[in-house]
Amino acid sequence: MTLQTLTIIKPDDWHLHLRDGEALEAVIGHTARQFARAVVMPNLKPPVTTVALAQAYAARIKQAMVKAGIAAGSFTPLMTLYLTDNTSPDEIVRAKESSGAIAVKLYPAGATTNSDAGATDLLGRCSKVLETMQRVGLPLLVHGEVTDPAADVFDREALFIDRVMIPLRKAFPALRVVFEHLTTKDGVEYVRDAEGPVAATLTPQHMLYNRNSIFQGGVRPHFYCLPILKREVHRQALLDAATSDSPRFFLGTDSAPHSRGLKENSCGCAGCYTALHAMELYATAFDQAGKLDRLEAFASLRGPDFYGLPRNTETVSLHRGSFVIPNELSFGQETIVPLAAGETLGWKFG
Ligand code: NCD
Ligand code: ZN
Repeated sequence: MTLQTLTIIKPDDWHLHLRDGEALEAVIGHTARQFARAVVMPNLKPPVTTVALAQAYAARIKQAMVKAGIAAGSFTPLMTLYLTDNTSPDEIVRAKESSGAIAVKLYPAGATTNSDAGATDLLGRCSKVLETMQRVGLPLLVHGEVTDPAADVFDREALFIDRVMIPLRKAFPALRVVFEHLTTKDGVEYVRDAEGPVAATLTPQHMLYNRNSIFQGGVRPHFYCLPILKREVHRQALLDAATSDSPRFFLGTDSAPHSRGLKENSCGCAGCYTALHAMELYATAFDQAGKLDRLEAFASLRGPDFYGLPRNTETVSLHRGSFVIPNELSFGQETIVPLAAGETLGWKFG
């Protein structure tokens, strides 16, 4: 008999963009409905570079929760620091001691949305900081793409493995590293086989779609994110990794809201909005692979285990049934188009 209801431990989102102000107020309810915790990315303008800024941002997230009627304690934002060439080892110690940030995010300068302040010389200028992170056990979360303008956009992740990941992990073998939003077979093989404390997050869009989706009958900006969708062989490798029994692959939506106008633009922003229907999307992917029984480990167990945090205790359910993804959602004064708007999924959350 086909499974009709899947009950799992409440999941967490280990990679999320919440933005600020009205945008934050518009999106926080979606994530808080499906997830107990989320690792909140620090790529605001200006970026969240210190524990003080992270604490102030966490307070704004809590205010937005109150405004959205979300019970305090039902959702916990886990804050991160944005690594720059000027991040100090003291800030790392402060983050660890105060629990004000659970990780540090590397955006190679110029790699993606709001990454201009990112590190330019990881193994040089940032080496003291990395050494401190390794010592105190604060993970480094990486946007794993080279920024070399001569590198083909579809090859940037694979090149990052050779040019940055391997030298970085050789220099700091005990540093905990998460290869965020992994998109390639090369990345899967690297993370699966590497020695030491390395893991990866996987988004719903990279598990469900290949790069054809960006060009189906015309340019489809709502399928454009970074790292960009890849060939089918890569999508298949990601799905295999997520549904395997490796503890190294876990859920991180990379839900990245941009207004409709900024996406449908002559120079459209990168980012897919999936916070509304993240678990429905992941359930669809796992169901397609015939591996629904692995969804709980991916969504709810491996992430906290990697971060050394307790697993959630509450449970949630997904039900088989049609879920029509809305064409657009309100987003402050503007609107936002969710990933796969107008399509029907076979799973409903809650
Ligand atoms: C993210 C954003 O908009 O902040 N965009 C994206 O396409 N994923 C940045 C990022 O994670 O690269
Ligand atoms: Zn991201």
